[in-house]
Amino acid sequence: MTTKGIKTGRPALASLMLAGRAQQSVANHATRGDIAAARMEFTAQLQAYRERVERGLDELIPPADTRPARLHEAMRYTLQAGGKRLRPVLVLATADAFGRRANPLPAAVALECLHTYSLVHDDLPCMDNDDLRRGRPTAHKQFDEATALLAGDALLTYSFQLLARHYDGELAHALTRELAEAASSEHLIGGQMEDLLAEKKTDATADELDFIHLNKTAAMLTAALLIGGLCGGATDSQLGLLRDTGRHLGLAFQIIDDILDATADTATLGKTAGKDAQAGKTTYVKLHGLESARKHAATQTDAALAALARLPGGAPFLTRLASEMLGRKS
Ligand code: IPE
Ligand code: IPE
Ligand code: MG
Ligand code: MG
Ligand code: MG
Repeated sequence: MTTKGIKTGRPALASLMLAGRAQQSVANHATRGDIAAARMEFTAQLQAYRERVERGLDELIPPADTRPARLHEAMRYTLQAGGKRLRPVLVLATADAFGRRANPLPAAVALECLHTYSLVHDDLPCMDNDDLRRGRPTAHKQFDEATALLAGDALLTYSFQLLARHYDGELAHALTRELAEAASSEHLIGGQMEDLLAEKKTDATADELDFIHLNKTAAMLTAALLIGGLCGGATDSQLGLLRDTGRHLGLAFQIIDDILDATADTATLGKTAGKDAQAGKTTYVKLHGLESARKHAATQTDAALAALARLPGGAPFLTRLASEMLGRKS
């Protein structure tokens, strides 16, 4: 998803996108001018959130010359290569949807550190063996395997250092619990393990695939929404709705990732296209085919939109962001 991608013509999937309840009610009541104005407002708001994330990353991560410089350079290398910043934007936007109990920026940076660690390790030769990430050589190509491994370890640890440094008491406990749960052996790492175990499998089931997607990807998107909600002061029932949103949005997000791997080009993706088929990964495209994968991503997005519609004020920015994710190009 790039700002450019948002401004340019609607992708084919956008017609499915518009089936989303919230989108439909907007389309029914708004004039063409209102729709264009809403789009511009969304794009500007997304840009503002991303800029806040970039500044936060630069300010809160140890400078590159911190000893040992090679390690801190490697931490910043993949972190500052760009990326959509979806998880930290979700933290900031969800906090804004509820109010401001606490500054969500350090937590947003923590989410991006943890996500980036998962990418650095995911790319290692012993995992997906990828050479390109965020349009740059992967960390182990740019540095070496041991440095990439340690930079990933350091980013993971740093995400919890950030929470410990910037939050107190009950909130610190709740934020740490959500991040640790999502990153755990039963979620992110468990999903990664089953992703590897399912490589080359010819009899993988839809349930196995759901386990992989829910845990390697949806758990972290859920954590971003919950952490934003906690920073904003969401109630328990609102946190429940955010949990539902994360599950559906996360599934849709990983299904789209599978579709893009099979259909997009390397330059647009900023990572090597066609890797899943090459590695024999169990993906939505492999198990259900391209058309069914597209439909499933749209259905999951609609379910996420239905949960968001029940939040105070209908969470318009999050609703739009969830819809845009369905039509993303990278
Ligand atoms: C890639 O995540 C890994 C998945 C969970 C699919 P993103 O597609 O969010 O990657 P970046 O952060 O934009 O690089
Ligand atoms: C990895 O999924 C998700 C995590 C990093 C946890 P993929 O292996 O499909 O992600 P990409 O396609 O390399 O970004
Ligand atoms: Mg992988
Ligand atoms: Mg991968
Ligand atoms: Mg992928």
